[in-house]
Amino acid sequence: MNYNGLFTHKLDALKEQGSYRHFLEVNKSAQHFPNFYYTNEEGVKRSAINWCSNDYLCMSTHEDVIAKLSFVSHRSGTGSSGTRNISGTTIYHRELENTLSNWHKKEAALLFNGAYQANTTTLKTLGKHIDNLVFISDECNHASIIEGIKSSGNEKRIFKHNDLIHLEEILQGINIDQPKIIVFESVYSMMGTIAPIKKIVALAKKYNALTYVDEVHAVGLYGNSGAGIVEQEHLEQEIDIVNGTLSKAIGVFGGYIAASNILIDFIRSFGTGFIFTTSLPPAVCAAATKSIQLIQRDDSLRKKFHENVLLLRKRMEENALPFSVNDSHITRIHIGNATQCKQLADDLLKIQGVYLQPINFPTVPIGNECLRIIVTSRHEPKHINHLVFSLKKLIYGDDTHNREIFSALSVADVENEA
Ligand SMILES: Cc1ncc(COP(=O)(O)O)c(C=O)c1O
Repeated sequence: MNYNGLFTHKLDALKEQGSYRHFLEVNKSAQHFPNFYYTNEEGVKRSAINWCSNDYLCMSTHEDVIAKLSFVSHRSGTGSSGTRNISGTTIYHRELENTLSNWHKKEAALLFNGAYQANTTTLKTLGKHIDNLVFISDECNHASIIEGIKSSGNEKRIFKHNDLIHLEEILQGINIDQPKIIVFESVYSMMGTIAPIKKIVALAKKYNALTYVDEVHAVGLYGNSGAGIVEQEHLEQEIDIVNGTLSKAIGVFGGYIAASNILIDFIRSFGTGFIFTTSLPPAVCAAATKSIQLIQRDDSLRKKFHENVLLLRKRMEENALPFSVNDSHITRIHIGNATQCKQLADDLLKIQGVYLQPINFPTVPIGNECLRIIVTSRHEPKHINHLVFSLKKLIYGDDTHNREIFSALSVADVENEA
């Protein structure tokens, strides 16, 4: 067996499709965000503006969060050095879990080393231990949800994205007494769409199903205290399991679920992806707690963030730059071709100092390649103006090969596509 030959063949296929991933080494600066530095292919140091960070509220650069991380690192050391069961549960883990359960108005919460692991472990554990559990999953769910469901080996039914009629058809086809769980996201980060949670909950109740919602791209950003779309819709008591991350709007690291005492105890006791791994570092837990407290107490960052989303879209509209219209903070420019998407992103970085990572297969299906713009609370009007100017220059400029991508694409077309 020629293993290297096989790997090379697979990698070559990715390169041919234009889906091969090139990592840009971002020299992140807490002081100067969204500006950062990188070294280009010629070895020259350049600066650029980051438009694809998930640090929505810039909590990763917040002085108080950094101070907490440093203080607890000095006090408790860097790593936890144990699984939760074997010396890896500290006062900081407990404090963070309490903070999370209170935030989501749930009885309990459970930490994981990322929301990916929280999704895979929780869904797999439910599937393995609830006889005949059927997963009913939105077609646009994240890879971690798909992996969790697949690895359980249980029956699964996929409903069309946010399509309540299709969801009800599926529910009608399953015996009312058969255990079932509807799994969906609140904000779909690749599309920017928001799930009709209230209606999904109503269907779940009618057909006796559990509900599991991934709020990874909503925690910190929506709702009165920033707990997410479930809070915004006042559905905390209606949803069974909430999944979230500490790595995006919270700006630190890790993931979690929040649910009833009994369910959390069940996953804690049977979830192998929870049991057999070293727990989060204590300082990371303490910093995440600090970040959540800041987000809960002060909605000014959240307000600034949403104002920036509106300003960006206003400027894009004024400049006839097509983007998918949605109710979330995700601003997406559909390209639909991996090579063109990468070329445009490369040009934006090289010529304009604009860093927008192309979103290609398998993150999105082939044909849905896009540039996804993430504005944060620290982007200023001057950054937004520069981005819009740069996009306009490279998309509509006379001397660019990218012009043809958009020549046949009106704003209306892009809306329909979304
Ligand atoms: C919808 C969704 N769920 C889960 C995850 C995984 O989150 P984490 O980075 O905390 O593992 C992501 C990551 O991007 C995501 O977009």
